[in-house]
Amino acid sequence: MCGIFAYTGKKGKDAGGILLNGLLSLEYRGYDSAGIYMPESGSVKTPGAVAELRKKIPKDFKGKSGIAHLRWATHGEPTAKNAHPHSDCGGEIWVVHNGIIENFKELKEKLSKAGHTFKSDSDTEVLAHLVEEKLSAQGGSASGRNFEKAALAALNEVRGTYGIALQYKKEPDRIIAARMGSPIVLGLGDGEHFIASDPSPILPHTRKVVFLEDGEVAVITPESHRIFRLDATKVKRKATEIDWSAEEAQKGGYEHFMLKEIMEGPEVVRNTLRGRLIEEKGLAKLGGLEGVTKQLEKVDRIIMVACGTASYAGMVGEYMLEEHARIPVEVEIGSEFRYRKAVINERTAVVGISQSGETLDTLEALREGKRHGALTLGIVNTVGSTIARETDAGVYNHAGPEISVASTKAFLSQMTALALLTIFLGRQRGMTQKEGKEIARELKALPEKIEKILEQRGAIEKLAKKYSKNRDFLYIGRKYNYAVAFEGAIKLKEISYIHAEGCGAGEMKHGPIAMIDEHFPTMAIATKDSVYEKMISNIHEIKARKGPVIAIATEGDKEIARLVDDVMYVPQTIEMLSPILNVVPLQLFAYYFAKEKGLNVDRPRNLAKSVTVE
Ligand code: AGP
Repeated sequence: MCGIFAYTGKKGKDAGGILLNGLLSLEYRGYDSAGIYMPESGSVKTPGAVAELRKKIPKDFKGKSGIAHLRWATHGEPTAKNAHPHSDCGGEIWVVHNGIIENFKELKEKLSKAGHTFKSDSDTEVLAHLVEEKLSAQGGSASGRNFEKAALAALNEVRGTYGIALQYKKEPDRIIAARMGSPIVLGLGDGEHFIASDPSPILPHTRKVVFLEDGEVAVITPESHRIFRLDATKVKRKATEIDWSAEEAQKGGYEHFMLKEIMEGPEVVRNTLRGRLIEEKGLAKLGGLEGVTKQLEKVDRIIMVACGTASYAGMVGEYMLEEHARIPVEVEIGSEFRYRKAVINERTAVVGISQSGETLDTLEALREGKRHGALTLGIVNTVGSTIARETDAGVYNHAGPEISVASTKAFLSQMTALALLTIFLGRQRGMTQKEGKEIARELKALPEKIEKILEQRGAIEKLAKKYSKNRDFLYIGRKYNYAVAFEGAIKLKEISYIHAEGCGAGEMKHGPIAMIDEHFPTMAIATKDSVYEKMISNIHEIKARKGPVIAIATEGDKEIARLVDDVMYVPQTIEMLSPILNVVPLQLFAYYFAKEKGLNVDRPRNLAKSVTVE
């Protein structure tokens, strides 16, 4: 997720100041690097966020229009070279982009062959050169060429997701926007117009906005805006007057970042999978592992190291990899592994899972693995983070920045990435094409299934309110959903501050069941899988002691509804992917439970988003 902001207005307005101040409200979308282009003054780019950019803006940097950007890196390290805006060869066509261009490699090869030289590793730069190529292909004199037509022709060749703003030095008043999968909103001012990733930077200037839809292109000038589709047909769309505050605009209209990020779950799974499944061959393509493919063939043991939620993703990955890639796996929390005298050699892979890529316990555990000759891999969301840099190879999540302390969308992405890793390693070790194709097919079906669960959030809110006076919760699950029990519990306790513990359902009889009475509810993850009957028996044990039970169950399972007090249903999927669906109602339950208690959901007490201390 990156932040885009563009402005064109009447003479006399300080476009540079408007752009820089607007970027401040977009910093939640990305802060790896920042940049600005104004036709009258050129471009300035830097690692870091707006404060860094301001320091590098020359005194005479001025103009009445421009485009600006905050980057959350997906391709290419967070350096000035890879910062947006990016330009064509001639430095006349400039672009800022939010999204992932899937076919950028083939476009880059074609354009390089046509003589274009590239300055960055970014997928975005391809866009500027493609427009340049289309513009020159129009022939005739440079002044007679049509920039809008060139942009449209270029966008029709791009596959992937984008929200862009495009500017041409020769036409400084005009800025082109386009949307495919990443949000773009136009601001309609008096003698000035805006383009942004969300309304927050526009609101100080105007509340009249137009949201673009996928496949739409817009052209703004100080006095006008036009919208059309990729086939050049015109679009008529009424402006809306929004009454959001800037902060509400950052949250996409949701009350908290946590709910926004839960609702982003389907898109995050799509982005984690994007360009990485070769379904027809039942293969996973993980570019970040290409350099170590041979070493991975020799790996005969995997140790996952992570903390908190990330460690529970590792526990799901353990079952996936052992069952479908036949590799022995163990999961260790970072703060323990680093003190173990683990027996490690060059055939051991130590896999660090971390959203921030900065968790010190996980980092030190990876360093311990490296010291003993292990191959180290990272499954990391933050590009260029310490764990990403220090591991031998890895897989980026592409989940976008996760602002809320409670990790939700990153957890879905971590498990999705582990499923991709399972296909990748499994197909090296005898997993059949048929098996790989089935997992790939089910992975691609997940986003829509998550959307179906999210549609139930009203009912889940009611359920959370019903139980919001309880002070204790037990979460139970088995096999793939053993980890989901722990994840459901940590979600509840870290934002509601009540006692909630995860427990292997089979372990209840060895102690925890002593706690159960009518005041001690249990969340039972009991979807239809190979241990379903066992879960039903555990639920009977709890009911026999008057314990209230809420079940996570498979759609259509009427039997369980007769047995428990409340049910949250999820669609059927294959067992190894069930945690990715089953955790979603638990995330929503925890969110609404904490909201009902009036707590600071996004910033819970005593916690930090990234724990960089021991
Ligand atoms: C999860 O909701 C918590 N915020 C916490 O457990 C977190 O997952 C853990 O600190 C690991 O963080 P990381 O993924 O950034 O390494």
